[in-house]
Amino acid sequence: MSRQKISILLMAFFMIGVATLAQSQEHDMSSMNHTDIPMKEANEMEVAHGKGIYAMSCVYCHGISGKGDGAASMFIGPYSHPRPNDFTARIFKFRSTESGQLPLLTDLMRTIREGIPGIMPSFRNMGESGIRAVAAYLQKEFIQRPLPTKTTIKYVEHVGPYTYSVESVYRGMALYREMGCAGCHGQDGKGTGEHLTDQRELRIHPIDLTRTETFGNGVSHEDIYRTLMTGLDGTPMPSFGDFFIGQEDRAWDLVHYILSLREK
Ligand code: HEC
Ligand code: HEC
Repeated sequence: MSRQKISILLMAFFMIGVATLAQSQEHDMSSMNHTDIPMKEANEMEVAHGKGIYAMSCVYCHGISGKGDGAASMFIGPYSHPRPNDFTARIFKFRSTESGQLPLLTDLMRTIREGIPGIMPSFRNMGESGIRAVAAYLQKEFIQRPLPTKTTIKYVEHVGPYTYSVESVYRGMALYREMGCAGCHGQDGKGTGEHLTDQRELRIHPIDLTRTETFGNGVSHEDIYRTLMTGLDGTPMPSFGDFFIGQEDRAWDLVHYILSLREK
């Protein structure tokens, strides 16, 4: 077959593909517009959609029973942290809620959307409806408890990224020492090498604060503020929310200091 014929054939296949895709999307759109579907049924549909996604994209690491014991989990730090999350244990690192509480649905969705650098891939390409569906499935199938719907983090207005200044970084540096961060993260933020364990008795290292690109909870000012306010449950990284009650603006000084450690 000549090259030209092959490319015409390929083109034809491509067109058919695009047409079917467009059709299936049209189908999705029309089913979404059915306002007469009772809410409960719609949720069941969403959970069923999420179940399919889970079987395709998550089961290898998180396991059929959601206990973090999928086939590939054998290769993910078998003796050290992190191992794939056991959803049935109901312990989550990345939350907008107090230590010990379950995450919001939007917290689960953020983790799934962004992934965890070097550990879990981002599933951004599933689109928001797919991300939401698989999060709903985790809640229904494995967590089996209602999720909180309100954040417990207190935000103060007119602070945050806008107040970044050299003075703020210096105030943050003083706080870093005063609050004992260096005890785990070291004077220079690179860690102390101290032997720490997580709730599963697995060896865990305090993250190297100069390598912000490895942060699992995100690297924006708001992300780091959230990490400090809620802690990372299941790890030695505590919540400092109580410390900052009534002086939330000081938490931003600490955020600015952490970001100043970033390796250039
Ligand atoms: C390559 C393996 C891998 C795949 C695939 C994977 N995960 Fe994970 N996931 C992990 C690991 C490892 C952790 C634990 C990370 C940690 O504790 O820092 C985790 C943690 C999580 C957490 C908990 C975060 C928290 O707050 O503690 C959620 C939620 C999650 N995964 C959802 C999913 C969903 C949904 C999918 C599929 C769409 C998925 N994961 C696919 C490895 C994976
Ligand atoms: C008892 C030890 C300990 C103390 C004290 C501690 N941390 Fe941590 N911190 C950890 C550990 C362990 C991790 C890594 C958790 C993980 O791997 O998920 C961590 C992770 C972090 C992260 C990265 C979160 C992410 O997105 O992955 C930041 C930022 C951080 N700590 C800041 C601080 C600051 C600021 C202080 C002081 C106010 C502090 N830590 C005090 C142990 C500690």
